[in-house]
Order: sequence, then structure tokens, then C-alpha cells
Amino acid sequence: MYIRHKYKILLTFLIMLLSAVVAQALDVNYDESKVPEYTLPDPLLLADGSKVTDANTWLRRRRPEILRLFEQHVYGKLPPRPDGMNFTVASVDTEALDSKATRRQISVHFTPNKDGPKMDILIYIPNHRPRPVPLFLGLNFYGNHSIHTDPGINLSKQWMRDNKDYGVLNNRATEASRGVRARRWPVEVILQRGYAIATIYYGDLDPDFDDGFKNGVHPLFCNESRTKPATDQAGSIGAWAWGLSRAMDYLQTDRDIDNKRVAVMGHSRLGKTALWAGAQDERFALVISNESGCGGAALSRRRFGETVAHINTSFPHWFCDNFNKYNSAEDNLPVDQHMLIALIAPRPVYIASAAEDLWADPRGEFLAAKHADAVYRLLGTDGMAANEMPALEKPVTSTIGYHIRPGKHDVTLYDWQRFLDFADIQLKRVTK
Ligand code: GCU
Repeated sequence: MYIRHKYKILLTFLIMLLSAVVAQALDVNYDESKVPEYTLPDPLLLADGSKVTDANTWLRRRRPEILRLFEQHVYGKLPPRPDGMNFTVASVDTEALDSKATRRQISVHFTPNKDGPKMDILIYIPNHRPRPVPLFLGLNFYGNHSIHTDPGINLSKQWMRDNKDYGVLNNRATEASRGVRARRWPVEVILQRGYAIATIYYGDLDPDFDDGFKNGVHPLFCNESRTKPATDQAGSIGAWAWGLSRAMDYLQTDRDIDNKRVAVMGHSRLGKTALWAGAQDERFALVISNESGCGGAALSRRRFGETVAHINTSFPHWFCDNFNKYNSAEDNLPVDQHMLIALIAPRPVYIASAAEDLWADPRGEFLAAKHADAVYRLLGTDGMAANEMPALEKPVTSTIGYHIRPGKHDVTLYDWQRFLDFADIQLKRVTK
């Protein structure tokens, strides 16, 4: 009895000690004066040390080098489109939303087996507009049915994190889940501005919890003989980004969509995903990151707000295993996030921050965008027009665009209006 008691005390003490060490190691810095000095890797320096001075060398040599570095050290590798992938039309309504739109629901089957892994794309195309129309594509957090109260949207049957407020019970959506996220998806505003909108539940690709990369589309990617994922195997962000490219595969077959004018947009973890998808897949004409923070648009080396160690500890399934090597060792990273943005060049990219969203390091997001400027200019664009961080609600609309608005971590109507303005300006320049 006495010995058991002694062990209990010892165990409690050890747990306390361990939590104190972890808490200290993962302390959050919100003080600009405590941002350490750092040197960013030069996107325009080849691995062999020579300088990139022309567009061709960037496109043929440096861009592929940087892509491999992000695959190897940050997000992990992904396979190409599966051979047996096929699309089925689950429903079409040409008179949806009081006849304002055509609603199409498409199932993308990743294997010839219709009961195998699949994702469902919900698309609204504005009626009474000449087609094809440009489109915004984005993943959503709570199922396609959550973006609008439209009763014609199929209710997702996938695993979902429980949320009483959103009517998600026993990890499944219910009728009460319809439209619960409509505030973040101003569908009518987007349609009225002449754009189509397409969305997919991110859990169709990979449920957002750590299961050792076994569920979602991961079984399609890995060698079955493996018991553990390879250190450079894609985590969830990779799988989500892969799904966006598979959606693009579908969009290229849809005659009502101008597939040369598809913007990929994402918020937060899905903003990290949009950047990685846009960096890899040049079919995306415009890329929008909303408050994507650490592992997204924010520079890792600043260690302001969320750090690499924080994110890998809380979300061990998001990145590839190799990314753990950089926990509290950001200076050893062969890349930083300005190089992720540079991979999108010369295509327009828009980075959005919120003033109270310090966890995502708004200044770090702006600086990453700014440090991609040299690549954008080398490729003949106007790069990032602002030298300093702009004031609140003073958007920058050069090829690298940026805004910061007042308020918290969220997607607001203001954000969408700026994305639409930016798309109006930038997508006009895209040649057919
Ligand atoms: C957490 C996480 C962030 C992420 C955010 C989100 O706050 O730390 O990295 O961006 O969740 O996706 O909402």
C-alpha cells in the first residue's frame, strides 16, 4: 500500500515536471521585439550555389528543386491521379437558389470500385451569364451541406468531429447541420459577381485526426507492406491538397467552367492546403490563403505565435514525419514559407490576415509574401507593390496581393469581397 502510494507521488511529480518542460519549450511568443534574428534561404540560389538570373532557369531548375524540398521536409510526397479514377453526376438542378444558379453534385471515385474512396464536389454555377465562367474552389470543414441551407445539397455521411452547435452527433451530420457554416460562404454574392463556386468536405479526403495515416485516401498512396508511413509520406495537408487537384481534374471536363480561371481558396489549415495545392499544380490560376499561419503563409523562422514545434505536437498528422526534425530548429529548414509562395509565381496569389489572429502571425504572413517578390519580378510581374505592411483594410492588389482586416480568426464577407475584387483584376490578365 505504502509503496503504491510512493509510486503515485513519484508519477505525479514526473508528469508535472514533464508538462513544465513541454510548456516552457512550447512557450508562445507574441512580442515582436523577441522575434529572433534569422536569415531566410534565398529562393534564387540553386542547390549548387549558383544564382538564378533568368526565368528559364527558375522554371526548369530552381522551381523543381524547391518543390522537392517541400515534399521531402514539410508536406510529403503524393502520387499522380489514379488510373481508374472516374466521375459520376449525383444530381443536377438548373433552377437552384430561386433559379439563380445551376447546382451540380459530382462524385469523384478514386478507384473503379464505386464503394471505394470518393469525394463529393458541390458546384453552383450562376445562371443568366455567358458560360464558361471562372470559379472559386475551396475545401470546407463541416460538409457541403454546411455552406448553405439549400435542401437539395446531399448531407455528408462521412466522419465529422462532434459539434452540438452544428448538429454533428456521434460523428455524423444531421438535418440540423444544414447551413451552419453559411456565414463563411456567401454563395449568392459570389454568384452575383459572375463566379461559380465549388466545395468539397475535407474529411472526404482525410478525416482530421491522427490515425497513423491509415484512413481517408492514404491507403491509396502507400505501399501495403509498410507498417509505418515513410518519413516523407504525405500527411493530411498533402492528402487534402491532392483532393483539390483531383477536383481540378473534374473541372477540366466541365464545359460550363472556365478552367483557365480557377481560383483555389482556403482558410486556416485549409489555407495551408490551398497554398500547397497551388504551389504544385499550375492549373490553378489564382491562389488565396486566408489566415493560414504556421505551415502556411507565415515564416517559420520568426517563431511568432504558433511554431513548428507547436503544430507538430498538436497535429502530428498534418505534415510528413521529417518536419518534426525542425521542431525548435527552424533555422535548419532548407526552405521557409516565402518559397512556398514563390512556387506559385507568376500566377497571382493573395494572402489575407486578421489583426487579432496573432497565433497565425499576420506580420510573418506579410513578410513571406514580400520575400516572394524577387521571384515574381524575375518572371516579369509587378510582384508585391507594398514595401511595408499596409494599414487595416487597405488591400494591396499587385500580383502578390495582401490584406489585413480588424478582428479575429475567421472568414468574413469583407475577406470574400476582397478575394472577388482581386480575382476581377488578376484573372482578366490570364490569356486563354
Ligand atoms: C489551429 C492550428 C492552426 C490552424 C487552425 C485552423 O489553431 O494551430 O495551425 O490553422 O487550427 O485550421 O483553424
